[in-house]
Amino acid sequence: MFINGETAVYGIFGYPVKHSKSPTFQTESFHHLGINAVYVPFEVKPENLQEAIKSMKILNIKGINVTIPHKEEIIKYLDEVSQEAKIIGAVNTVKNIDGYLIGYNTDAYGFIEGLKEIIEIEGKTALVIGAGGASRSVIYGLLQQNIVKIYLANRTPQRAIEIINDFCKYYRVIDQIVSVISLDQIDEVLENVNIVVNTTSVGLKDDDKPLFDYDRLQEKHTVVDIIYRETKLLKKAKEKGCNHQDGYPMLIYQGAKSFEIWTGQKAPVEVMKRALGI
Ligand code: ATR
Repeated sequence: MFINGETAVYGIFGYPVKHSKSPTFQTESFHHLGINAVYVPFEVKPENLQEAIKSMKILNIKGINVTIPHKEEIIKYLDEVSQEAKIIGAVNTVKNIDGYLIGYNTDAYGFIEGLKEIIEIEGKTALVIGAGGASRSVIYGLLQQNIVKIYLANRTPQRAIEIINDFCKYYRVIDQIVSVISLDQIDEVLENVNIVVNTTSVGLKDDDKPLFDYDRLQEKHTVVDIIYRETKLLKKAKEKGCNHQDGYPMLIYQGAKSFEIWTGQKAPVEVMKRALGI
């Protein structure tokens, strides 16, 4: 890699940020296309977020990704926010245009591009588990693809109801498409869904208690777990012969979209995948 006085700086703000895989594949992509830029991790504590955002302008950091726990909080520090980031209520990408900061959300796009690799979404029915920020992106993405029905299951149903309340400003008929259920009710709807998505953190640890009886999965289900590893849910999906996917495609495609927003160039997706060994 060649670094000189003109090298542009991109990065990721998160806390923690050590686990992030974005610096690896983003820097590799700049390099591959001959763009004089690097992408580095910035560990930003929540209490320093506003200052860190200001520093983007001072240091002329051209663009950043934002990860846990800043995706929602950052919105109030930006000059402009895209319509989809507004609806989702979270920003994961910021572009700095001569000191003017615009926020975008590429998580929904990333999820959908990944899912499209294994299933045609239009007309399907989905079970989405979880009601955090990731779930909001997944639901937004599915709605954009004309999904027919979403069962939204969460340990705390009130959080799922909040998503519907927030989205209904933009989707008038959302309460006809999205139905909130409890984790206990998953068994009842499983027969009627094509796509099962886990957006919770359950599965990160081996001893996590399953979200439902995974033995109830059938070959007809397409199963996505947005965690970057083979969780128990995915293991069972594989065993049952289901179409299945982990969190890597979403990671790659959200990064690809961020790259395109920053550079105006098509992201070298295959290079990104190779950089992560997938
Ligand atoms: P993110 O922004 O990454 O989605 P989050 O906002 O912390 O993260 O949301 C985490 C999700 O995982 C929530 O849906 C949470 O359920 P609650 O809303 O009931 O907290 C879910 N979750 C975390 N641990 C869980 C567990 N042990 N069992 C079931 N759901 C769990």
